[in-house]
Formats: sequence, C-alpha cells, structure tokens
Amino acid sequence: MERQAARIAVFISGGGTNLQALIDGYKAGILSGKVVWVVSSSEKAYGLTRAENESIETFVFKPKKYPTPEAAAADLLSRLQERRIDYIALAGYLKLLPDNVVGVYHNRIVNIHPALLPKYGGKGMYGHHVHEAVLASGDKESGATVHLVDEIYDQGRILSQVRIPVLPDDTPDSLAERVLEQEHKLYPRVLNKLIRGEYELSDE
Ligand code: GRF
Repeated sequence: MERQAARIAVFISGGGTNLQALIDGYKAGILSGKVVWVVSSSEKAYGLTRAENESIETFVFKPKKYPTPEAAAADLLSRLQERRIDYIALAGYLKLLPDNVVGVYHNRIVNIHPALLPKYGGKGMYGHHVHEAVLASGDKESGATVHLVDEIYDQGRILSQVRIPVLPDDTPDSLAERVLEQEHKLYPRVLNKLIRGEYELSDE
C-alpha cells in the first residue's frame, strides 16, 4: 500500500516562490509531502494568491489581534493540530514562531536562508540585507541553507547547503536571483529527506 503523503504547513510573509517550489515538488514526485495549509504574517503576501490558485487553505496569523501572546500561540498550535500538520516549512516568514509550536514540532520545522549559515544569519539578516552584507564582505561565494528551527534565530542544525560563486559584477539583486534559483531546487529535496527519516536526529 502506498504511504500517505506527509502534511505540510508553509509559513510565508511575501512572494512565496519557495512555497511554489514545495507545491511543485510534490506534483513532480520530488517531495513526499503535500502542502495543505499556508500561513501568512500579512494579508498582502502574494504567496496567498499562489496558495489559492492551488486550492490550498490559507490563514493570516496576526498575534496582535489576540488578547495575549499566549492566546495567539495556543490558537496557532490548535489550528496546526486540527489539520494534522506533520511538518512546518518556513519560506520567507519574517516573524518568530511561538515557543509552544517550536516545542511540539521539535525536529519537524525547517527554514531556508539565502546565505551560507552560520554566516549572515540572525536578527535583521533577511532579504537584501543578506546579499548586501555578502557583497560588502568580499566573500567569493554565497549560497543557501536549509536548517532545523529551534528557539534561536537561524541557529538550528544545518541539514544542507548549496554554494554558488559571487561574481565580480554582482549586485544584491543579481546575487539574490541566482541564490533563489538554487533555493527552489534545494528546499523540496531537503524536506523530502527529512520526511523520509534520512537525517539522524537527536531526541533532545
Ligand atoms: C528566500 O530568499 C528565503 O531564503 C528567505 O526569504 C526569501 C523568500 O522568498 N528566507 P519567497 O517568498 O519564497 O519568494
């Protein structure tokens, strides 16, 4: 009997090209998990339209709309559990996940970052800030990283990286574009390996 596809929630804040890569990865048989829920920090994120185009349920999560941060966190976790979500993939999500979600989904939350962590990670290192910092440093290569998410920004265990050369005439835009192209190939493959239990993970 065929194994049931794992159920994935993708968290976004913007364009959602990585979300699209995960949706397409499932269709292409590269990813043995299906995106069944898309959570956005903003109602304006174009990724929401991508989800609607694929008939995937969406939710805009705004913690400030709840009476307390704890109420917001509890609501998010119960929505994840109601939908029997197995894995969470952060794809350009600019907020921190509540600790209760990080705890319950230990070793089942991944993020993609547009640089070679541990360099160029942490607070404030997102979007163009990352590529500007790489170019300013004079580094000869950059890339993308998929890592597990724990309580600290960009510091969970690295699962996989792809490296690309920085070209002499690169701008933040041109570098971002080449990195993004690689992200789309890397993310579905790494998430697939995680779902299939191909990484040795500690239970701590
Ligand atoms: C990507 O560069 C990803 O690495 C970073 O945010 C960006 C999201 O892009 N975390 P998109 O919304 O997937 O197009």
